[in-house]
Amino acid sequence: MRMRNPAYKDDVLNRCDFYYDKNEGFKNNNPIHLEIGMGKGDFLLNMALNNPKINFIGVEKYSSVASVAIKKIMNYKVDNIRILITDASKLNELIDSIVSTVYLNFSDPWPKKRHAKRRLTSPEYLRVYDGLFKDQAHIIMKTDNDDLFSYSLESLKEYGYKINRLEYDLHSTDIPNVLTEYEKKFSEQGVKIKYLDATK
Ligand SMILES: C[S@@+](CC[C@H](N)C(=O)[O-])C[C@H]1O[C@@H](n2cnc3c(N)ncnc32)[C@H](O)[C@@H]1O
Repeated sequence: MRMRNPAYKDDVLNRCDFYYDKNEGFKNNNPIHLEIGMGKGDFLLNMALNNPKINFIGVEKYSSVASVAIKKIMNYKVDNIRILITDASKLNELIDSIVSTVYLNFSDPWPKKRHAKRRLTSPEYLRVYDGLFKDQAHIIMKTDNDDLFSYSLESLKEYGYKINRLEYDLHSTDIPNVLTEYEKKFSEQGVKIKYLDATK
């Protein structure tokens, strides 16, 4: 998601004191969940508020977008959120093997075949995630996009993941769900949300 720099961007990025630093980590042994492509942060913030015994790291490649999320998070007293502004391809340099769950919410679909490597469920990215997981690899994905969803299913299976749960209309199931910005927009348009939970 590209967007113009908000006027407050530099101020918010400078004041933010909850960037993830692998030398500091979290001050407890609670499980760590990672959202890649957190966008404007609604999912990350509400998951952290609902689950105080889980630590969350939000990753976003654009600082303009991340600044919107950081500004929102600053309005709450949450100590279980950290942020990394980076492309996910760099994550092995920034995070050790500490993660229990990776969330991929409404990832960019990159529909052209020649851009397939950029999809966040390509084998190239799955290899990066291998280095982040503490024990078992666990990915939860939501998307509006049928083509990205079927590509991801195949890619995960080929890479050795087992699909534990597969839904083509998440909002008609009993799976507990926290909305993302894109999810809200698409479901208001009547688009069904696809969901999968996979482990390796
Ligand atoms: C379509 S938006 C979805 C945002 C949010 N997850 C939601 O559901 O509302 C995808 C987000 O992922 C970010 N993103 C895409 N590729 C990324 C990558 N390789 N590393 C980190 N962030 C990425 C984009 O900048 C954008 O903010």
